[in-house]
Amino acid sequence: MDAIRITHALRTVGLTLSAEFHEAVSSTSDRAREALQAGASEWLVVADSQTQGRGRLGRKWHDVPGAALLFSLALVPDLPRERWPLIGLAGGLSAVEAIQELTGIAARIKWPNDVVAPGPELRWVKVGGVLLEAYSEGAVLGMGVNVTAAPRLGEGTRGMPAGCLRDLGAPPPREVLLADILWRFLPRLGALREGRLAEVLEPVRRLDITQGQHVTLALGDGTVSGVVEGLDDSGALLLRTDAGLRSIRAGEVHLSPHLGTTEAGRS
Ligand code: BTN
Repeated sequence: MDAIRITHALRTVGLTLSAEFHEAVSSTSDRAREALQAGASEWLVVADSQTQGRGRLGRKWHDVPGAALLFSLALVPDLPRERWPLIGLAGGLSAVEAIQELTGIAARIKWPNDVVAPGPELRWVKVGGVLLEAYSEGAVLGMGVNVTAAPRLGEGTRGMPAGCLRDLGAPPPREVLLADILWRFLPRLGALREGRLAEVLEPVRRLDITQGQHVTLALGDGTVSGVVEGLDDSGALLLRTDAGLRSIRAGEVHLSPHLGTTEAGRS
């Protein structure tokens, strides 16, 4: 990938974003944050590899250099802070739809921000993830998708191995995937700004593999189990527990092992 290819791919879908490309960077999200601090309101940072890639819940995000789509978009959301998690959901949704469209892989969301796909032995594999970070100046949407290789030491969701698009279907050029994701994401951000939350929440509910499932959630202070009954207007997971309906804003969902299988072929 290089800056020319990225600009060309973005132009092909009608986007003219300010963007920078790095062969290697600590984290694209660090650079995007710096852009925010320097006063940018929309700034795209793309890299071939990261030395300090980070994921949700304080984890590291590993990449095989040149084999992953790694980018961060700095933005000023212009919507109430409690709704900012919806931006992360919109990012994951856009990645899932772009992967489906470009590869035919039956990708899905795993709430809140994992991009998963049916892998070998009818088990889900994690092919990508989204990290939304909030700052006083704005937000940084960071996304990583394993395109032609997955890091062997990569941290997939616990119990869910890391996978890559090449192992599951034909991988698109990374800049084409990037452009397709952003082409889907930016109008959704507009919809959120205008209060049309259903344009994000409804497709997420449809594509989220946790919906309707009996799950255990690892929270900071323990675990909670129940059946997922939907999402609220801030993107929190609605969990029916023995003690009633709980809304969970963050955490890691563990699907019961016997439900970790896929409905392969459904896209
Ligand atoms: C997760 O699954 O926990 C989220 C992973 C997000 C990784 C991406 S790669 C590009 C951007 N830069 C980072 O350091 N993290 C995000």
